[in-house]
Amino acid sequence: MNPLNSATVESAVELSASDEPEKQPETQAQESEPDRLLFKKSPRTCQLTGVRIRAIGAYVPLRVVTNGELEAQYGFEAGWIKKRTGILERRYAAEEEGTSDLAVKAARRMLAKSDVDPSDIDLVLVATFTPDFTCPSTACLVQEKLGLDAPAMDLQAACSGFMYALATGAQFVATGNSKLALVIGADVNSRIVQPDDQGTAPLFGDAAGAVLLERGTTEQGLVRYQLGADGAGGSLLDRPVGGTLRPLTPELVADGQHYLKMDGRNVFKWAIQVVTETIEQVLMQADVGVADVKLFVLHQANIRIIDHAMKVLQIPSEKVFNNLDRIGNTSAASIPVAMDEAFEQGRIEPGDLVLMCGFGAGLTWGTGLFRW
Ligand SMILES: CC(C)(COP(=O)(O)OP(=O)(O)OC[C@H]1O[C@@H](n2cnc3c(N)ncnc32)[C@H](O)[C@@H]1OP(=O)(O)O)[C@@H](O)C(=O)NCCC(=O)NCCS
Repeated sequence: MNPLNSATVESAVELSASDEPEKQPETQAQESEPDRLLFKKSPRTCQLTGVRIRAIGAYVPLRVVTNGELEAQYGFEAGWIKKRTGILERRYAAEEEGTSDLAVKAARRMLAKSDVDPSDIDLVLVATFTPDFTCPSTACLVQEKLGLDAPAMDLQAACSGFMYALATGAQFVATGNSKLALVIGADVNSRIVQPDDQGTAPLFGDAAGAVLLERGTTEQGLVRYQLGADGAGGSLLDRPVGGTLRPLTPELVADGQHYLKMDGRNVFKWAIQVVTETIEQVLMQADVGVADVKLFVLHQANIRIIDHAMKVLQIPSEKVFNNLDRIGNTSAASIPVAMDEAFEQGRIEPGDLVLMCGFGAGLTWGTGLFRW
């Protein structure tokens, strides 16, 4: 059978001119911070069905770090973390663990739950913005540690990374160029946050989540999705040094410039727009109502972002899966770890529609309606 016969690959949906995002003149955008920060909506969504999730697994490190521990250690304001984010505790990787170790543990847990022969895996994608090394890729380390015969590559889209990797893996599977694709989201954020920065450090944790993609029915897969990027907002959430443009120097490191920097308040305002507007758009273009969706799994960044979206989109709380109170923001691992927990609890079953929404540095976002 020609694999393309049962894989539906459909592209952009046209919208009327009134739906086009308003363009800001360049000078005005530079001068007017609030205008530049507004979410730049894109009218395009895509469809990629004929793909299913064969198995899912996750790993969170053993070390629990509570708000109380951070408050005592760094003098953070008592109660601030819980009140402003909904996070109670997070997990930190052990000293000897890197991102690839978490990724391998998630993949092994997933394999242990399935009847898959690892030698059938023919593609490894790892979404991460905290790789073990700049080079080689974390995916190559995972491929080697799992003993796979497969091409391997990293994808960097920060907290949207899993959505980007899911869509990329799905294209390989839909075209028949991969029969069994291992797609992992993994991050060790505890190594890149400035420990005493109350505005970033307590929000983040470490974890990994893995899925195996294979051919499914024409109904299964990404019923409708949008991946997006707005590099104009890159400086809202970045690591300004350590790359080729501004290599590390002892002075920059001493000044803490290598840590993750975040303009939390403006990221917050951008995020609530991304989440509400892209979910609404994906559902509308899929001609699917909130009632038809079994579960909403949003990137676990801040409970107030999720609550805002639920309120605006009138999503009942029983349709939303959250675990950020226990693990915080785990970047690319956030969505697959939450989906694994939801799956284990029987809250996702084959045939269900699940809405996933990731957003983060870049700026990037990925919102997808996936039929299991
Ligand atoms: C870092 C953080 C906890 C700090 O919290 P905070 O100082 O209490 O600030 P808030 O989040 O309440 O407010 C941010 C802004 O959003 C506004 N805001 C809050 N709720 C809002 C809503 N429902 N609609 C519109 N704007 C809202 C606030 O008025 C504030 O605007 P201002 O700076 O002009 O006054 C929080 O800003 C945050 O979580 N940011 C996003 C971090 C994040 O998700 N990062 C990862 C992305 S992957």
